[in-house]
Amino acid sequence: MIISVLNKKGGVGKTPISFSLAKDLGYFLQSNDNSVIENIYPDMAKITPKPQLIDNCVYDFGGFVDTGILDIIKASDVVIVPCVNEYNSILRTVETIEEIKSYAKAILVIATKTEKESDFKQVQSAIEEYFDDLHFFELKSSKIFKNAIETGLSIDELFHENALSKSAYKSVYNQYLTVLNIFKNN
Ligand SMILES: Nc1ncnc2c1ncn2[C@@H]1O[C@H](COP(=O)(O)OP(=O)(O)OP(=O)(O)O)[C@@H](O)[C@H]1O
Ligand SMILES: [Mg+2]
Repeated sequence: MIISVLNKKGGVGKTPISFSLAKDLGYFLQSNDNSVIENIYPDMAKITPKPQLIDNCVYDFGGFVDTGILDIIKASDVVIVPCVNEYNSILRTVETIEEIKSYAKAILVIATKTEKESDFKQVQSAIEEYFDDLHFFELKSSKIFKNAIETGLSIDELFHENALSKSAYKSVYNQYLTVLNIFKNN
């Protein structure tokens, strides 16, 4: 299985989502974008300007979509596009989807950093005006994403740390599991 996570908009959560899915699935992780992934996911993560196409890999793509990225998008089983509920993020997300939609087999949009119930609905309805065959998921605002990048623990590992983490992260963990299980169950 090949999963690409991309959005030319920065700060939408591509890196913690890619890292956590890769670790929880036991997959490799590649990125064209500088981050701490090689330190927190040693032997499994690689940053390179030209990521190589391999199986069982999650790709964390920042920046614009060049031909090398497009080849990996074409080979991906699923493309995940995280987006926050802000005008600029939605605009860049629509542009990003426009560039890849004729190549991607399936596109999941994840509304990230949501605070209110209306955030998810607003992201979904704004993007659905432009495209009709997308799938929408939500990962609410939570410290778990920052903690994952800081500790090198996946969202599943952080949730299972102790009784306190299980209660603190319960709702965001359930949202994450919905996404993770798509890949676990194919
Ligand atoms: N659902 C969330 N709730 C709260 N904070 C989040 C969430 N997702 C990501 N973050 C935090 O937002 C910040 C920016 O996210 P991050 O750097 O992962 O985005 P990115 O899409 O990888 O950006 P870039 O293109 O710059 O690499 C990070 O500190 C991250 O921990
Ligand atoms: Mg990143």
